[in-house]
Amino acid sequence: MMPSIVIVGAQWGDEGKGKIIDYLAQEADVVIRAQGGNNAGHTVMVEDKKYSFHLLPSGVLFEDKLNIIGNGVVFDPEGFLQEIEVLKKEGINTSNIKIDERVHVIFPYHKRIDQLEEEARGEAQIGTTKKGIGPCYMDKIQRSGIRLGEMIDEEDFKDRLYKQVDDKNKIIEKIYEAEGFEKEAMYETYLKYAREIKKYVTDTTILAHEALKAKKKVLFEGAQGTLLDIDLGTYPYVTSSHPTAGGFPIGAGIGPNQIEQVLGIVKAYTTRVGSGTFPTELDNEVGDKIRIKGNEFGTTTGRPRRCGWFDGVMVRYTTRINGLTAMSLMLLDVLSGFDTLKICTGYELEGEMVAHFPANIKTLGKCKPIYEELPGWEEDITNMKTYEELPENAKKYIERIESYVGVPIKMISVGPKRNQTIIRERLF
Ligand code: GDP
Ligand code: IMO
Ligand code: MG
Repeated sequence: MMPSIVIVGAQWGDEGKGKIIDYLAQEADVVIRAQGGNNAGHTVMVEDKKYSFHLLPSGVLFEDKLNIIGNGVVFDPEGFLQEIEVLKKEGINTSNIKIDERVHVIFPYHKRIDQLEEEARGEAQIGTTKKGIGPCYMDKIQRSGIRLGEMIDEEDFKDRLYKQVDDKNKIIEKIYEAEGFEKEAMYETYLKYAREIKKYVTDTTILAHEALKAKKKVLFEGAQGTLLDIDLGTYPYVTSSHPTAGGFPIGAGIGPNQIEQVLGIVKAYTTRVGSGTFPTELDNEVGDKIRIKGNEFGTTTGRPRRCGWFDGVMVRYTTRINGLTAMSLMLLDVLSGFDTLKICTGYELEGEMVAHFPANIKTLGKCKPIYEELPGWEEDITNMKTYEELPENAKKYIERIESYVGVPIKMISVGPKRNQTIIRERLF
């Protein structure tokens, strides 16, 4: 077997993937992003220093590990260079970063169209990050997008970009009656970016293949979360990529049989940022308490996250469609100090019990969560290092989630730092 692990968000994103990637990267050789773009915000805390990665893989703090931005990513050159700048200021070497030449490039018109589309949706807006993710993936699927390999090709780039700007200006000006872009200026800026970025660009599928063949330890870093998947999520309140386990073989250019384990990153409760149905949402003081204790504000947009109880029906679904082999339970410390905790173990729909997470959000919107109550605990658990030390009621909470979902919880996170991680069973 190959020591390769897919790390997938098992809820609506922000489960703590960045922390776990950084933790596991201590022992890994390669970290690969395969989808999404800088809509992601992955937090890594080393001692008291906090890093937010949007496009960069969360293994970049280890200079001896290879960090790959795989072909399935949509790539914002401006955002990338800003992140590189932050690392350089910290004295961190960035020569360990490689970007696949197939990534589609996000241009300013993608961001503007993202914003204009959201405004046009009015009440039905998705609450996107406005990073141009959807419009860039639209161009990719429509087969008109510009790939990074083309952007660094100085012979062709100008014509490709001019054609795109002309087409997009028509949409921006005629449909949205907004101001279009001046192509010469955009070309100059992006040519400059291309020259700076060129040294990072290669065919990363070869690097991934070589690492797997040599039995190196490879981590595939999911962005967003399962319920934001374009096919399997709560459509249309989703992102435009495949954050599910199935997205990795395509987004990194490997075979599905080269993935050994699928680790679901699961918050001990549920959050969501952006619009859309959320059955266990707590629009009350309990939700406020979770938001404040968990510091639940978006890493990318700063928006307050919507908070609610742990939804077992949903995590059973994400377990099924990802083929989870293990879970890492995150932010358990945030639940200290509640008298009782609730776990949703079923939905009621018009008087009937629903066995499976509904495919359709209209149906989901009518589902009422059925809760199981568990006793809480008072103790501060942020300094606990072993499973045995945890309060009895915390163990009961963990074990109930485990038995309900049917997948072992091998890691438990009790704080944002590397050393606030309890390992019940090693993955590598
Ligand atoms: P990601 O997008 O999945 O990487 O998650 P984010 O970084 O957007 O959000 C997770 C937040 O929770 C970050 O601020 C982390 O520093 C923080 N965090 C991660 N694990 C824990 C934990 O176990 N306890 C607490 N209190 N915070 C955590
Ligand atoms: P990480 O990797 C949480 C949400 C947005 C919006 C929807 C579509 O940090 O877990 P988009 O800009 O992608 O078109 O927005 O998806 N969203 C996320 N929510 N965590 C993320 O990433 C997200 N990336 C996108 O809020 O509802
Ligand atoms: Mg995040």
